[in-house]
Amino acid sequence: MSAEGYELAYIRDAFEKNWIAPLGENVNEFEAALCGFTGAPHAVALSSGTAALHLALLLLGVGAGDTVFCQDLTFAATANPIVYCGAKPVFIDSEEDSWNMSPAALERAFHEYGVPKAVIVVHLYGNPAKMEELLSLCTRYGTVLIEDAAEALGSVYRGIPCGALCRFGVLSFNGNKIITTSGGGALLCGDGEEAKHALKLATQAREPFPWYEHEEIGYNYRLSNIAAGIGRGQMRVLADRVERKREIYELYRQLLQDVPVLMQQELPDAVSNRWLTALLLPKGGPAPDEAIAALRKADIEARHMWKPMHMQPVFANAPFVGAEESAVSEMLFSRGICLPGDTKLTNDDIGRVAETLKSVF
Ligand SMILES: Cc1ncc(COP(=O)(O)O)c(C=O)c1O
Repeated sequence: MSAEGYELAYIRDAFEKNWIAPLGENVNEFEAALCGFTGAPHAVALSSGTAALHLALLLLGVGAGDTVFCQDLTFAATANPIVYCGAKPVFIDSEEDSWNMSPAALERAFHEYGVPKAVIVVHLYGNPAKMEELLSLCTRYGTVLIEDAAEALGSVYRGIPCGALCRFGVLSFNGNKIITTSGGGALLCGDGEEAKHALKLATQAREPFPWYEHEEIGYNYRLSNIAAGIGRGQMRVLADRVERKREIYELYRQLLQDVPVLMQQELPDAVSNRWLTALLLPKGGPAPDEAIAALRKADIEARHMWKPMHMQPVFANAPFVGAEESAVSEMLFSRGICLPGDTKLTNDDIGRVAETLKSVF
């Protein structure tokens, strides 16, 4: 059956049982499927990945005046929850191998800004970061690494699925992700008590009293049983989607072999879900704007890579710690583009994208 078939069956079931609420069998089974797939001991299904990041920070007690280190090259949703908590982000540069947080820059940040309450690493476009180095630095300096695996469901680092590598892992099922519930996310937790606390905070922090009693501030962050039905259906096709995404990357790699682009590389011990195929145009060659315009002319949508957080006007006052003399994240942004990678694209579609891109060289 296609993903759509499974989804509709689970949604119909929710209607038939009249569980159109933020709880029910689909939510429980979706969480169980996430744990089964990632190996994480606990999963809490939420309304978004942003909510999951916010809850992870709250569970760590992040509050006004605290500092949180955050990967610089990412979507703003990684950094915004730091500000929701009243804390201050310090942005950490990328390294050139995986394009994710640089262990060297992280270590420098510990020296320059002290030990933060938490560090948030991202697996950019699904590509696993240098987790061993980052985890051992965080352990050595006595802080917690949070894994923003919003783009990386289905990726694996040293045999362990992304999202399950740290005390807290964050997933997103937003419209454009490898699986989508139209909107949604999950917090993966190693510890059962922390998962219980996350669930309580996500459901308005009710205390176990016969009446509505509240001792802490709660949130309305739970995923609905309908959306969870979609997720439950999509979990059944996740492995196929990863396979197709990886095929799409490989096709682009072969078709673009004779032009000097640098595609995002996996670390030797990592497998990316290749959520997006991202590449760098050559130094001094066509600029991303030029390539994107040429593709747009052919009715093909390509995008710039994420613009680093330290270059965003909204974070203009936040400190940034570079990996090298000039920022690696700035270089990646200045030369990077993301190509269309929907799993419904045919090999001919991919061929047309590659041909059009080659025409700018
Ligand atoms: C790296 C990253 N972090 C966090 C998020 C936030 O997830 P959501 O859109 O589900 O809130 C996204 C995607 O939107 C993302 O790409």
